[in-house]
Amino acid sequence: MGECESCHANGEPSADSAYENEQCQSCHGSLAEMSETHKAHDGMLNCSDCHVVHEMNVGDKPTCDNCHDDGRK
Ligand code: HEC
Ligand code: HEC
Ligand code: HEC
Ligand code: HEC
Repeated sequence: MGECESCHANGEPSADSAYENEQCQSCHGSLAEMSETHKAHDGMLNCSDCHVVHEMNVGDKPTCDNCHDDGRK
């Protein structure tokens, strides 16, 4: 996912991550345009709520039980 500037304005993280989450969508599309798991969260979550980009390797999957304790997969 390359350079800092591809997600951060001038390479500097924003206070609320709003700019960063817009960048995700400009490359990958919005929640409504993605898989069922993504559609289920349209209007509720940001990409960075599940994809903690600096703590996960590319291809790692976020876990549902961070937020749901009823066994959703
Ligand atoms: C794929 C998008 C993406 C790229 C590329 C990226 N960041 Fe981030 N960064 C984020 C997001 C989203 C957050 C806020 C949420 C989080 O912590 O995951 C963040 C948070 C940060 C923070 C705040 C501290 C922290 O870890 O929460 C720093 C500092 C930072 N990034 C620096 C960088 C630097 C330096 C680079 C280039 C080497 C970089 N980022 C590349 C998306 C990205
Ligand atoms: C509720 C947690 C959650 C949120 C929010 C979320 N993702 Fe995901 N994402 C996942 C999971 C789980 C996968 C594994 C494949 C799947 O279930 O679709 C994934 C897979 C992906 C993939 C890999 C390709 C694929 O479809 O398998 C990309 C790219 C991705 N997400 C981008 C995003 C972007 C961009 C956003 C914000 C618009 C986002 N995700 C928000 C959970 C989430
Ligand atoms: C400049 C375009 C760009 C931006 C901005 C960007 N990505 Fe990506 N992302 C890519 C490319 C290219 C790949 C690697 C090819 C692929 O798997 O689609 C990738 C890979 C991924 C993957 C892994 C896909 C897989 O198949 O395993 C996830 C998850 C993901 N990005 C989420 C995010 C999130 C979350 C953000 C915002 C914080 C973000 N991306 C910002 C272009 C981008
Ligand atoms: C960052 C927190 C978070 C993560 C991680 C997360 N969710 Fe959610 N999810 C929510 C919130 C908030 C809602 C809306 C309130 C609710 O329905 O509980 C929601 C709603 C849903 C819904 C739609 C409501 C319903 O009951 O039909 C489904 C389906 C769902 N999540 C499945 C998943 C799955 C599957 C995963 C793992 C890939 C996951 N969630 C990961 C926070 C999260």
